[in-house]
Amino acid sequence: METTLIFLKPDAVQRGLIGSIVGRFEAKGLTFVGMKLMNVPKDLAEKHYAEHQGKPFYDGLIAFVTSSPVFVMAIRGVNAVAVCRTLIGATNGQKADPGTIRGDFGMSGGYNMIHGSDSLESAERELALWFDDGELATIDKTLDQWVYDPSDLK
Ligand code: GTP
Ligand code: MG
Repeated sequence: METTLIFLKPDAVQRGLIGSIVGRFEAKGLTFVGMKLMNVPKDLAEKHYAEHQGKPFYDGLIAFVTSSPVFVMAIRGVNAVAVCRTLIGATNGQKADPGTIRGDFGMSGGYNMIHGSDSLESAERELALWFDDGELATIDKTLDQWVYDPSDLK
């Protein structure tokens, strides 16, 4: 099992899309182990997006994610990092495939509604940034036996 860090950006929260987007992850069969609405301190935004420092869109990106609350989730499942990235779709909503979150709900490259960790290494780094030790729930998901076949869980 992997756990990945997802957050709905201020545009998705302000547009009233939390329920529609969260419902997609839930219906997919993924498990929520953390969830919270929060304002993002500037230093957290800068640490999270450190890899983009110096790029032309960096200042706007930090201003955007700190402008209004985000909805943060820790999501667990088999191959959760890659599965969530597939559900999210390409960075720019104008180019993202229909059926993906960005493809169905967005029209922008910057205001693209959602973040998802891009690797297991990123997920571990980002989970430690956004959630305190002990903040994630321990949940016995007995339904997993109907979401995965036994070979998926090996
Ligand atoms: P995240 O899940 O948010 O990390 O998106 P991503 O992995 O699809 O994109 P990437 O990590 O390359 O960029 C991080 C974020 O910066 C994007 O989600 C956008 O919000 C923003 N961004 C990236 N490229 C551009 C760009 O060319 N223009 C603008 N305005 N914003 C960009
Ligand atoms: Mg990224």
